Amino acid sequence: MKTRITEMLGIEHPIIQGGMHFVGFAELAAAVSNAGGFGIITGLTQQTPEDLAKEIARCYEMTDKPFGVNLTILPSFQETPYDEYMEAIVEGGIKVVETAGRNPQPFLPRLKEKGIKVIHKCTSVRHSLKAEAIGCDAVSVDGFECGGHPGEDDIPNMILLPRAADELTIPFVASGGMADARSLVASLAMGADGMNMGTRFIATKEAPVHDKVKQAIVAASELDTRLVMRPLRNTERVLTNAAVERLLEKERELGNKIRIEDIREEVMGVYPKVMLEGDMDSGAWSCGLVAGLIDDIPTCKELIDGIMAEADELIRQRLEGMLAA
Ligand SMILES: Cc1cc2nc3c(=O)[nH]c(=O)nc-3n(C[C@H](O)[C@H](O)[C@H](O)COP(=O)(O)O)c2cc1C
Repeated sequence: MKTRITEMLGIEHPIIQGGMHFVGFAELAAAVSNAGGFGIITGLTQQTPEDLAKEIARCYEMTDKPFGVNLTILPSFQETPYDEYMEAIVEGGIKVVETAGRNPQPFLPRLKEKGIKVIHKCTSVRHSLKAEAIGCDAVSVDGFECGGHPGEDDIPNMILLPRAADELTIPFVASGGMADARSLVASLAMGADGMNMGTRFIATKEAPVHDKVKQAIVAASELDTRLVMRPLRNTERVLTNAAVERLLEKERELGNKIRIEDIREEVMGVYPKVMLEGDMDSGAWSCGLVAGLIDDIPTCKELIDGIMAEADELIRQRLEGMLAA
């Protein structure tokens, strides 16, 4: 399939694996890219910019296909040397950066100078338009369904994607709630140039996370995610567990007086415990509503090949068949 995104990224299929904390290691990025999609290493999962440089080098050993790096600029408990992380990306020869969280404008001159493409992840049309205006090359439009941070507008993709298509000139991919060929074909119909998947790629053979995480996603239904940190205007969609229910109880009790320190135990340092050790109740970790559509653990190649074959069938048989009838 050829879209503006496959052309821009130099890939075979219009499917991107979004940056994911403690999931987006070289193994997953390389597996997605080797399967013809676009894999992304998560920059801040690496403890230092030097570690990120090593992770990028490791990924080059596993694939000769294009892959990118995510740099997420979010409120965090400690100061992060973003400039140095960005330098590791530039010096690592990366050609595409996925930015998220805040306006990436301060980094754009350096990235443009090196010819690096920027895909900014946005949860609203106004942020997408801002990304376009400051010179981003594409946007990843993340609907309310998404795992992670859906923003505060709560607009699902059935509305957000056509709105983005009406307003944007640069290419965009649909993100949030994407799992299969139906997601891809629907996104293309709504004006997107491809799709970005997070949660779906965690439940793959190559995702280097504890098996309990994959099993939890397979077991979960679309009713099992919760929105946390809404009173802090840092909303995150997570899979429910004992720690998440405790966190929500604190939110109910403290209301708008809640501070990040009050929920430190439920959100601080959770990802290595969940993703690497399989300590599933240790805190809040991102997961999309799409968990309700995931019931297997394929390889990335099986997943992507399956999506593309079924998309072909959906378009040529189901849709064309309806027109011919
Ligand atoms: C476990 C997990 C961790 C994530 N970590 C990040 C991150 O560090 N930076 C980021 O920009 N997005 C992050 N995301 C969001 C994904 O890149 C992607 O936008 C989102 O998962 C899409 O929604 P979906 O899960 O419904 O596919 C994360 C998502 C998940 C599920």
